[in-house]
This record gives sequence, C-alpha cells and structure tokens, in this order.
Amino acid sequence: MIIGEEVLHYDITDSTNNEAKRLCEKEVVHGRLVVADRQTLGRGRRGREWLSSNNDGIWMSYILEPSMKPVTASTLTLVAAMAVAKAVTETTGLKVGIKWPNDIVCNDRKLSGILTEMQSEDDKVRYVVIGIGINVDTEGFPSELKEVATSIYMESGYKISKSDIIKHVSIYLEKYYNEFLATCDMAGLKEEYEALLVNLGRQVYADDGREVKEYTAMGINEQGELVVKDACGNVKNIRAGEVSVRGIYGYV
Ligand code: BTN
Repeated sequence: MIIGEEVLHYDITDSTNNEAKRLCEKEVVHGRLVVADRQTLGRGRRGREWLSSNNDGIWMSYILEPSMKPVTASTLTLVAAMAVAKAVTETTGLKVGIKWPNDIVCNDRKLSGILTEMQSEDDKVRYVVIGIGINVDTEGFPSELKEVATSIYMESGYKISKSDIIKHVSIYLEKYYNEFLATCDMAGLKEEYEALLVNLGRQVYADDGREVKEYTAMGINEQGELVVKDACGNVKNIRAGEVSVRGIYGYV
C-alpha cells in the first residue's frame, strides 16, 4: 500500500502511537495512517508529555513494515522529519528547518515533533510506528513552552487545512521512504537533509546523560548520526536516542 492511502480517523484516543501499536498486534498493514483530533495521553520523546488534548493540531501515526534491522529502521525518523518539513513549507509557505534528529522548527521554535517506536524480533523489524505532532492552529502555549514552541497559525497568521498538510506529508514520506530503501541509509537524502538542518555550523551541547560537551555541528553521516567537531578539531558521530542535542543560546 502507498503510505497514507488508508486513513483511520478517531475523534479521540489516548495516543495515536498507542492506537497504531494496538492495531499492529492484530495485523501489520504497511502505510496505514492513524489520525486523531485529540489525544488524552499524547507522548513525546524521552518520556515527556505532548500537549494534544485540543483539536488544534495534527496528531497522527504512520505504520510501516520495512524489512531491515532495528538500527537501520531507527534512521527513518530523520526521513519522516524531511517529509514534514517539506509538506509544511509547501502548504504554508513558511520557511522551516530540522533540528537534528527530527524536530521541525520555524524561527528557532519547535513546530512539530516525531516519536518513532518499533517492535522487532530476532534483530528484524516487525513494524515501525512514526508518530507525528504538528502544532497547526494553536494560538498560544503555557508559559513553560512559550520560548520553545510555535504553531503554523502563530507563524503565518493563517488557519491552514489540516487534511491538506496530512496529504502532503504522506506524499513526501512515500517519496523519501523509497529513496531511503534504495540504499537503506541516508546516502541519497543526506544533501537534502543537510539543506534543512538548522544546527549546521552552529554550536551545540551534546548530553549523553553523564556529561554535557560543546561542539560545532558539521552535518550528518549516512547512518543519520550527527557529525560534530570539538574545540580541538576532533570529529565525532552522535547517535540519536543516545545523546540529546540543544543549542548553546537556546533550543536550537
Ligand atoms: C517529541 O518531539 O517529543 C515527539 C512528539 C510526538 C508527538 C506525536 S502526536 C502523535 C503521536 N502520538 C503520540 O502520543 N505522540 C506522537
């Protein structure tokens, strides 16, 4: 099935990622898309909550069934970020970029986040769920998010059709997913990803849970790792999930 060809729409669910995983326990249907108007338990990365109890954003999860190893499939989160960035720009005219590995940002504030989860058996992926949250009509955020979050409405002043954005995300996810499948890495997508990478050439703090170090972001490698350089010129690759990255002057 083409990605996004089948859409299951819910008025409300706990989390579209949870719903997608429940569906996969019965049957894995590649390309199936789960969309909800509201989530009661929206989840973000690193165990954070994702604000999605209002019908003012796109809360959706794609089910994919790639035949590859989990370590390869984890890079699909970068592929999804490209699809969201491209779709938002095309439907809104806003200039957006990607904060590595998969936050979509506009004017240095987060517009969209992605939570990729998977199930595997014997080092082979059974399914991947790519959960995407896009702040669309949000008119304001609580004080703790004010400095870091934004929405399409806040950036453009317009209320844009959510279904149009979803359609474009699906089209671009299908395109980039197939390009990724050709080599099972970012070789064919690296240049386009780096053109969207807002961290490029900027100072970043990398936090591996033990220590925080400062680097300059140089780009990504074919595995989707962030290539960074320290003050002495030593180059290092940082893997998403193991290390979190933030800007030294703020979120980006
Ligand atoms: C992040 O940046 O922390 C990731 C946020 C992912 C949010 C989306 S909304 C749809 C899907 N369902 C969830 O519970 N989370 C993802």
